[in-house]
Amino acid sequence: MTNKRVVVAITGASGAIYAKRLLFELSRAGIEIHLVVSPLGQRLLHDELGLERIDPAALCEKEDHGVTIHGHRDVGAAIASGSFIHDGMIVCPCSNNTLASIANGVSGNLVTRAANVCLKERRRLILAHREMPLGLTEIRNMQQATEAGAIIAPTNPGFYMIPQSIDELVGFVVGRLLDLIGVEHDINVRWTDSPANFRSE
Ligand SMILES: Cc1cc2nc3c(=O)[nH]c(=O)nc-3n(C[C@H](O)[C@H](O)[C@H](O)COP(=O)(O)O)c2cc1C
Repeated sequence: MTNKRVVVAITGASGAIYAKRLLFELSRAGIEIHLVVSPLGQRLLHDELGLERIDPAALCEKEDHGVTIHGHRDVGAAIASGSFIHDGMIVCPCSNNTLASIANGVSGNLVTRAANVCLKERRRLILAHREMPLGLTEIRNMQQATEAGAIIAPTNPGFYMIPQSIDELVGFVVGRLLDLIGVEHDINVRWTDSPANFRSE
């Protein structure tokens, strides 16, 4: 275990597979993980991954996973306080609903409370948003959250590494999230140069 601590929130946007891979990679890197899942996030874990309950061992594919689970309604949990020191928070996937709350400083549950605490403490907050297309409300909320200090990191993969599988597409997004939170990884996300046989004028 490193002495790094990361808060992860899973909300009710499609893309539970991103959350699973993120937890797997954080756990593999020896990070202390504090996890909170919204009720709709839990539904997506069930619908998209077949998980009957929040099971850190299954999500991280590891028995000694380093995950502490906090209840969604428990706004008295440690991560709800600015005095709880950590290295940042990732909401993955992040729904429009949760984005809207964070952008407007609404802290009615532990996900949004912990996120708003990140902003007031000037800690890194990454919102791996998933929805398309975007309405003006979401665009404005993204602007507001960005102005407050959050990083909007939509779950859209690049294709320049020529992915061959869903796993590689998911890995690309998760690798970039890990870059943003400062966790080293060996996922293939680094563009180096154009192919030698391509010449742009
Ligand atoms: C199957 C399913 C898929 C959904 N996908 C998305 C999505 O991709 N993006 C989004 O913003 N909301 C999506 N929603 C709607 C959110 O789950 C809903 O707005 C909910 O209130 C979010 O609550 P939360 O932010 O507390 O998780 C989806 C809902 C369901 C049931």
